Amino acid sequence: MFLTPKSSTAIKLFSWTSRVVSLCKKSVRVSLIWACIRATLTDALYRFFEPLVFRLNAFCTLRSFWYSRWKCFGLVIFSPSLVLIKLYYLLLITYYLLLITYYLLLITYYLLLITYYLLLITYYLLLITSSRVKFSSLNQQEKNVDIFFEIHSELPREAPGNDEATAKALSLVPKLPKNPIILDIGCGPGMQTLALARITGGQVIAVDTHQPFLDELQRRAEEQNLSSQIRTQNCSMLALDFKQDSFDLIWSEGAIYIMGFREGLQSWYRFLKPEGSVAVSELSWLVKNPPEEPLEFFKKEYPSMKHIEDNISIIKQLEYSYINSFILPEAAWWDNYYIPLERRISKLRKKYQNNPQAHNIIEEHQTEIEIYRNYYQYYGYVFYLMQKESKITE
Ligand SMILES: C[S@@+](CC[C@H](N)C(=O)[O-])C[C@H]1O[C@@H](n2cnc3c(N)ncnc32)[C@H](O)[C@@H]1O
Repeated sequence: MFLTPKSSTAIKLFSWTSRVVSLCKKSVRVSLIWACIRATLTDALYRFFEPLVFRLNAFCTLRSFWYSRWKCFGLVIFSPSLVLIKLYYLLLITYYLLLITYYLLLITYYLLLITYYLLLITYYLLLITSSRVKFSSLNQQEKNVDIFFEIHSELPREAPGNDEATAKALSLVPKLPKNPIILDIGCGPGMQTLALARITGGQVIAVDTHQPFLDELQRRAEEQNLSSQIRTQNCSMLALDFKQDSFDLIWSEGAIYIMGFREGLQSWYRFLKPEGSVAVSELSWLVKNPPEEPLEFFKKEYPSMKHIEDNISIIKQLEYSYINSFILPEAAWWDNYYIPLERRISKLRKKYQNNPQAHNIIEEHQTEIEIYRNYYQYYGYVFYLMQKESKITE
């Protein structure tokens, strides 16, 4: 009677229970049935409240276990409290799992955030450091340029040369018209500009990027009554915007190296009138195998320096007719350039004795002079003369 097959619905359970009760009334074993029902209900109640109070005590647990296992197995199994408990635990586990996942994600998120901010801080620190380095190196570069121009101020000229050499080169220019229009590129303080204006009686446009040189040239032109023939222009040789066919003569002493020998000649060609000429002086090797010391020095200072013959062949490769070339005499190095430069060096040595950067720049100039003193026969400034090819009549 107590092991009636299991039923899953409450209705069945109650109808079965009432049947059991009615039977029990008639049975001598009624007390036993009641005891069993009480045990079942108690057990159900325990189980229902179990999540809240857990086990009341060991006795209750034992009792609950005993009754549910041996006496009232079927009833307890179908108790709705069991389903609720299972559901409750399932939800609880799911909830805690979700909670753990949530906290893990949160920790990961914060770790990533911290990493991100650390990287950001590192990046900005690097940026600040590098910009400081850049800024200080720019500052240093500016200072170096200032020192360079301080060394190169108050000199009669800024490269080897003299009036005799300028006059000689001018005498080699073919078919120069009366009062020619001349462009002097990289004129510096303009010793040759003044000579050109004086000898030809023409108009000279003198360009340079260093305004103090142009101011000095202007001052000298006024002093020598040549200012009406000379116009200075602060402009880079890399950005000349004169009209095509503007000049009878293009002149450049010791300045074409800034663009490169070939590049300069190519670029200036268009400004020449038909039959116009170019005269440039350029530092050149005079021998094929110079000694080690000057070779090393110029590898560093002027790596594209060429042999005199190589420069002549460049002229011939371009749309020019090669006219002539000559080597500047030694005096052209010393009188107006290295001697005044040495005087300037010894003056500035005292001024900058506690400035290692300035000291280095000054000493580099002295080294250059010493190299020339010792090896003047191996290299020199060479005047190259050429004419716009298309109109040559000779
Ligand atoms: C070695 S110096 C020769 C100066 C002058 N021709 C002489 O013999 O005394 C070179 C000249 O080129 C000028 N210079 C440098 N870069 C230049 C540029 N991009 N455009 C024009 N002139 C430049 C310098 O200021 C300097 O005056």
